[in-house]
Amino acid sequence: MNILVTGGAGYIGSHTCVELLKAGHQVVVFDNFCNSFPEATRRIGQIAGTPLTLVEGDIRDRTAIERALRENACDAVIHFAGLKAVGESVAKPLLYYDNNVIGTVRLLEAMQATGVKTIVFSSSATVYGVPQFLPYTEDHPLSSTSPYGRGKLMVEDILRDYHVAQPDSRIALLRYFNPVGAHHSGLIGEDPQGVPNNLMPFVTQVAIGKRDRLQIWGGDYDTPDGTGVRDYIHVEDLAVGHVKALEHLRQPQCFAVNLGSGRGHSVLEVVKAFEQACGKSIPYEIGPRRAGDLPAYYADVTLAKSLLGWKATRSLETMCADSWRWQVANPNGFRV
Ligand code: NAD
Ligand code: UD1
Repeated sequence: MNILVTGGAGYIGSHTCVELLKAGHQVVVFDNFCNSFPEATRRIGQIAGTPLTLVEGDIRDRTAIERALRENACDAVIHFAGLKAVGESVAKPLLYYDNNVIGTVRLLEAMQATGVKTIVFSSSATVYGVPQFLPYTEDHPLSSTSPYGRGKLMVEDILRDYHVAQPDSRIALLRYFNPVGAHHSGLIGEDPQGVPNNLMPFVTQVAIGKRDRLQIWGGDYDTPDGTGVRDYIHVEDLAVGHVKALEHLRQPQCFAVNLGSGRGHSVLEVVKAFEQACGKSIPYEIGPRRAGDLPAYYADVTLAKSLLGWKATRSLETMCADSWRWQVANPNGFRV
């Protein structure tokens, strides 16, 4: 297939492009590079041994997407493009709704105008809100606590409504848990701008000496060691999940599925696993809870297995080892 990958130069998108190329698809990356670098797309080609097409553009520019879809005879879209900082979304809600929600509407209009019926969307476990039970199954009630999360939920609703109106559409809503790690080649990985919000990039920056110590946000949760528990998933496993979702979209349908490992790890477990991977100790201190954080959540992954024949295979140790390899080989990320 010819696949338009919005946000394909970003963290998850770049790993997915590698898997798509390996599976024999043609890839067109459509990205405005607001949170990524063209260098990532060169490295995707280097890993996969086959080039991709790069279009610089914004998903809110319907004409530009239509042109990219037509000129490359695209059959499907994988839609990663979006802003993802929860705190920033609270400070700048209009920016988030414009980019993430209105941008998706423009993309769908362009797909409709060009007859492209297949879309895989990057949703998030954040759409489940406060757990009413764990693990989260796909039929857990949906709610959200930030403009970022509400935007994800709105886009899920928009895509469900779109499928009702266009029953021949093929739509996958992939609810990611906590993607971490990097490609095992060390050539691509997560390249956060400024101070990382997320745990794994912060830990890698402490290990390499860019930051003094990790602040653990809360040590008094009702979890086995008091620190927050999350379902970490290796980004290469997540990337494979997209290829499987695309294969499953041979028939018109709209489905939502969790992509996680199915097990929770605490912050302290991540720190210990990372210390093993890098051979250094990670200084940390336990601070207050972070506003908006949940104590613990993880995925029920039964549906992913039965529907897509997919499950995560890489361990927390591999996630840490691959994050570390990427960090050491690229201390300044893609800024070469
Ligand atoms: P990322 O920031 O690395 O990648 C997003 C890419 O989209 C970047 O390359 C950016 O330049 C591009 N982009 C943003 N707005 C654009 C626009 N208007 N037009 C064109 N390109 C645009 O983020 P990521 O971690 O790879 O996340 C990809 C998607 O997955 C996002 O939608 C995110 O919300 C979702 N998601 C991520 C996580 C996570 O922990 N990383 C978890 C759940 C869901
Ligand atoms: C965060 C977002 C969530 C988003 C997800 C994407 C918030 C409130 N939530 O989730 O909406 O879908 O990223 O990956 O921002 N931690 C520390 N110290 C740090 C950083 C994190 O102790 O410096 C802890 C957190 O308290 C949490 C765990 O590490 O227990 C994971 O945090 P993080 O990587 O930020 O992910 P989430 O909070 O799960």
